[in-house]
Amino acid sequence: MPAWFVTGTGTDVGKTFVTQSLIRHLRSQGRSVDALKPIISGFASTDAAHSDTGILLKALTRPLTADEIHRISPWRFRAPLSPDMAAAREGKSVPFDALIAHSRHAVETCAATDTLFIEGVGGVMVPIDARHTVLDWMNALRLPLILVAGSYLGTISHTLTAIEVLRRHNLTIAALVVSETADSHVPLADTVAAIARFANPIKVIGLPRMADPTLSHPAIGDLATTLL
Ligand SMILES: Nc1ncnc2c1ncn2[C@@H]1O[C@H](COP(=O)(O)OP(=O)(O)OP(=O)(O)O)[C@@H](O)[C@H]1O
Ligand SMILES: [Mg+2]
Repeated sequence: MPAWFVTGTGTDVGKTFVTQSLIRHLRSQGRSVDALKPIISGFASTDAAHSDTGILLKALTRPLTADEIHRISPWRFRAPLSPDMAAAREGKSVPFDALIAHSRHAVETCAATDTLFIEGVGGVMVPIDARHTVLDWMNALRLPLILVAGSYLGTISHTLTAIEVLRRHNLTIAALVVSETADSHVPLADTVAAIARFANPIKVIGLPRMADPTLSHPAIGDLATTLL
């Protein structure tokens, strides 16, 4: 069963945007797709539709019910902080072993024809609890990764640093997407070319800023072809 873990070089770089685009693209091709965002911080139940959970549910054409929200994102926290800090504000912590078991169960129970995306949280080494980061989560699952980066000034170093860490842990980067940062003066194509030179042989795909998230873009078709 094809499953990918969607990680990023930081928060707000486009992980959810890329994932929802990919879901729409694959569904338009008749594939059955599922997606999870197991940990979400900055979650307000009164504005669930605009959360990552709500955005993924919409792309999956699933209803925004309490059950579905819980299915996609079992660990939800109100504060817009890293999961360890956000959970602590509520006197909680993310149970790392349960997170791994939950993710593995999702991968194992997806039907053979399904495609599954698990969106991480923030960047590659965001703390999940006092002892684990997203890197430990990815290491436990060993899924191929979709690495998402922005196109802002500074992204090349952030991206190559993330690649270096992932490679040291023998994690597979199936594709790298540079999702254009709003109001960045750095040309997307030049950023993609520079990252590709250093990231070789990883496939690097540039996704321009889209006015409408429901519209498809050839870059997403290219990404889907790279993955499947
Ligand atoms: N290529 C793009 N075109 C248009 N909007 C984009 C694009 N990439 C990202 N965005 C927008 O930028 C914002 C941040 O993107 P997104 O929420 O996907 O980041 P993220 O990496 O998932 O963040 P988080 O760490 O909070 O999960 C969102 O409003 C999203 O719609
Ligand atoms: Mg997100």
